[in-house]
Amino acid sequence: DQQLTPYEAIGEQTLSQLVDSFYGNVQNHPLLAPIFPDDLTETARKQKQFLTQYLGGPQIYTEEHGHPMLRARHLPFEITPSRANAWISCMEKAMNEIELEENVKEFLLHRLTLTAHHMVNSADNED
Ligand code: HEM
Repeated sequence: DQQLTPYEAIGEQTLSQLVDSFYGNVQNHPLLAPIFPDDLTETARKQKQFLTQYLGGPQIYTEEHGHPMLRARHLPFEITPSRANAWISCMEKAMNEIELEENVKEFLLHRLTLTAHHMVNSADNED
């Protein structure tokens, strides 16, 4: 029988709602807001493209921007362990806000947690 990709299981509209809700949370997070642009329209558009292909959908991020090289693209930003945890908490909150189905939530949150930790490139400040 046919296997749906995670992208197909979630659906374009739900993924879009998730990303919009997520960046709403980012904008209100004291550790994250300062390193993001004020206008997150373009950031959200790229994230929708990225997550589409990350979840097995069409490679629309790569078509427009080239290979994701996600860690390299994050090097200009100070990504500390605290910021990675903040990112994950904004994502979990967004998943709850849009009432993402529990199995999908667990699957996606697990994968994103691994990716978020991979982005860490700076230590938390001692002071
Ligand atoms: C871009 C922060 C984790 C995917 C960005 C930008 C910042 C940022 C500041 C630049 C926004 C802009 O100028 O438009 C963080 C922090 C993270 C994190 C603090 C904590 C670990 C992740 C994860 C993913 C991700 C886990 C993927 C699942 C992206 C994508 C972009 C981006 C696709 C756009 C790249 C581009 O310009 O083409 N992130 N990020 N980020 N981030 Fe993250």
